[in-house]
Amino acid sequence: MALAAVILAAGKGTRMKSQRPKVVHEVCGRPMVEHVLRAVRGAGAQEIITVVGFGGEQVAALVREQSRVVFQREQLGTAHALLQAKEALAGFDGDILVVCGDTPLITPETLHLLVSVHKRECAAATVLTARLDDPTGYGRVIRDASGRVRRIVEQKDAGADELAVNEINTGMYCFAAQGLFETLAAVKPENAQGEYYLTDVIEACVRAGRPVAACPAPRVEEIRGINDRRQLAGAEKILRRRILDDLMLAGVTIVDPATTFVDAGVEVGPDTIIYPFTFIEGRSVIGGGCRIGPGTQLVDVKVGDGARIWNSIVCDSEIEAQCQIGPFAYIRPGCRLERGVKVGDFVELKKAVIGEGSKVPHLSYVGDAAVGRGVNIGAGTITCNYDGRKKWPTEIGDGAFIGSNTNLVAPVKVGAGAVTGAGSTITRDVPPGALGVARGHQRNIEKWAERKKSATGDSAGKMAGE
Ligand code: UD1
Ligand code: CA
Repeated sequence: MALAAVILAAGKGTRMKSQRPKVVHEVCGRPMVEHVLRAVRGAGAQEIITVVGFGGEQVAALVREQSRVVFQREQLGTAHALLQAKEALAGFDGDILVVCGDTPLITPETLHLLVSVHKRECAAATVLTARLDDPTGYGRVIRDASGRVRRIVEQKDAGADELAVNEINTGMYCFAAQGLFETLAAVKPENAQGEYYLTDVIEACVRAGRPVAACPAPRVEEIRGINDRRQLAGAEKILRRRILDDLMLAGVTIVDPATTFVDAGVEVGPDTIIYPFTFIEGRSVIGGGCRIGPGTQLVDVKVGDGARIWNSIVCDSEIEAQCQIGPFAYIRPGCRLERGVKVGDFVELKKAVIGEGSKVPHLSYVGDAAVGRGVNIGAGTITCNYDGRKKWPTEIGDGAFIGSNTNLVAPVKVGAGAVTGAGSTITRDVPPGALGVARGHQRNIEKWAERKKSATGDSAGKMAGE
């Protein structure tokens, strides 16, 4: 039978003390609501509807490509929120998973279990429950003498004996679409909070003689909702550990999981070693047999097999196999380092393509540049790419040798196999195979120091800076 899902994400999340809606806050690099979206899709939901309200446009922008978005203009309660999906689900008569946008740790496996219990019990409504040592704040699941679910009572409406119940409503359900929206429309806001409670659907089904089931969540950590920034950090820690465990089981060595931070969705090949204090973020894909870290941050970076990157930052760039980067390199967006390139200490690159086997070993800035293969760029080389108004390109041909401390004033080309003299400021193209030198000639003045000393009686040595 077909499965749809509705994600309730219209609430503000007051306790986050944020300008942004709660569900856009990220856990391991991914907005909370996107974790939930992936979980419902993983559980088999083909049709997904997200109910947005507070900061609705921001949430919609994140989920629009993967789900239908409906707006709940006023947040009148969870039943009212689900009712907003009525039109979007008109004519649908399968099962509907209902989840909240603020439970990023929920897995497809648990939702799949919820759906299968629902089917097995031929239920009109099945609620995912959990037993908590401290159930404070959650709705309590009230069962009858024979153990069947009778209703859910909210904390604020519960009597003393009900408050003692430690089986709680996780806020995740599976409903038969048949009759659901009629039942929802009949819910009245007659309770302590004056809200339309989705939980009232449970009692309504029981009264109508329709079967209601409960599915205990196998892992309590998965159902925890995020309400404040402490819980956000708690979820981050749990999810980070899951990500690292998966990588380790897939053959990646992580020297110290406590100080390694890998975003959800990052891929790392087998036999790569990740050293401490390393962050691999965004849509990064790391090959096999690499050594990454210590002290490294990679954001949206593709790295080929066997590369080594240590104590460096690389953003939005592609690093091919066998490259060596660092320590203390800063590779900014738009770079491509071809196979076997070496970029050493205190080198900054931006929008630069560095050809196979070329080296930028130390103390250079190379920006808006196309560098050929087998090039050596001496220490202290600077591409002067900015004239105060505009950025200009630099081209360096295959096999060129850039002498130390060369300034390449762009736009400029150094031809294949050409050489620049150390300390040159190159303002015109250097033809292939030529030597470009542009610096003052050296003059040596014999016995200058001695003459200076006798003329002034001062120490020439001091003047020379010794
Ligand atoms: C709800 C349940 C409670 C359960 C708890 C689990 C009800 C009445 N109670 O309580 O039994 O233990 O979740 O976390 O349902 N939302 C909207 N529009 C609204 C109101 C809420 O979209 O008008 C969304 C929120 O963004 C959130 C979810 O629904 O994602 C739950 O809302 P929240 O206010 O947190 O429900 P609780 O009071 O915690
Ligand atoms: Ca509430």
